[in-house]
Amino acid sequence: ISLKSLNTFGFDQKARFFTAIGTVEDLKKALTWASERATEVLILGGGSNLLLRGDFEGLVIKIELKGIQPVGEDQDHIWVKVGAGEVWQDWVSHAIAQNWAGVENLSLIPGTVGASPMQNIGAYGVEIKEIFESLEALNRNTLEMETFDAAACSFGYRESVFKNVLKDQYIICSVTFRLKKHPEFHIEYGAIQDVLKAKGVTELSIAAISQAVIEIRQSKLPDPKEIGNAGSFFKNPTISNEEFESLKQQYPQIPGYPNESGVKVPAGWLIEQAGWKGQRTGEVGVHGKQALVLVNYGKGKGTEIEALSQKIRQSIREKFGIELHPEVNFI
Ligand code: EPU
Repeated sequence: ISLKSLNTFGFDQKARFFTAIGTVEDLKKALTWASERATEVLILGGGSNLLLRGDFEGLVIKIELKGIQPVGEDQDHIWVKVGAGEVWQDWVSHAIAQNWAGVENLSLIPGTVGASPMQNIGAYGVEIKEIFESLEALNRNTLEMETFDAAACSFGYRESVFKNVLKDQYIICSVTFRLKKHPEFHIEYGAIQDVLKAKGVTELSIAAISQAVIEIRQSKLPDPKEIGNAGSFFKNPTISNEEFESLKQQYPQIPGYPNESGVKVPAGWLIEQAGWKGQRTGEVGVHGKQALVLVNYGKGKGTEIEALSQKIRQSIREKFGIELHPEVNFI
């Protein structure tokens, strides 16, 4: 079948075999089927962080495990277990409607709940590790369900154990979040304050913050239904304090956010400075409003995006001496 509608880049590649599963039993059956045939497996959530470079000769399993269930509460918190196949934004909307606080800054992130811990999604000052309680994942070798707490997930910036040491060994089936009954607002991010002010919002609420985040995202990020993309294509690199200081001599405007290991520099800024913003080559290009987003205008191929990304990496290496690393998974 064609995977065109199942990846947000909109690449028209095929899968040899495909199944969508709504229960863990069916997931186990599908994995057994694949291992009996020694067929490769690709697990698909929302397909929003995926670069398909060709047809997939194995079995694509789309995870459609659903359900949003409160599983515990105390005076200040509510714990909610969410199926991996729930669309992230559906979950966010549900939480906001129930007045459960904690996910509002993560509004409108594409993809599914199961993918969220995979790369510790984050935006506008919040990362999911801050509201994460635990997850259940199926061990692909033993077909047993295992529980991971936050420590076991080793969350980092756009990182978790499932992206490195345990890559391709587990399938996340549900995630339990710990939300707050009494909101704690995160509006450190300047753009949120600007939007709230422009709209004349005087009383903060999680709904108002969510709406502000949605407006910011819509103003910068292309809607995958109109222009294929996978959000940020690269991670924001962290460089040493010394490197940052020396770049600052040359580029006094360079933005930087200090962290434990040095200074994080926005890749979007570097790419824009190198002249890539809005550049188009054939059917692919760099988004005109956010240089960190690579886009497929329609008939582009994953290999073309890959080639473009390599050119960008090379130019950033030459101009700034900085190595960019993709955030997107190459298949
Ligand atoms: N910038 C430019 N030119 C650009 C883009 C950005 O100069 O074309 C500068 C901005 O002026 C600003 C800085 O870069 O000073 C940061 O830009 P922005 O706020 O747009 O955020 P980002 O660092 O580019 C990250 C996440 C996004 C997340 C936003 C908001 C990564 C890789 N990306 O982008 O996440 O929504 O912060 O918190 O960390 C994603 O992962 O797919 C994603 C969209």
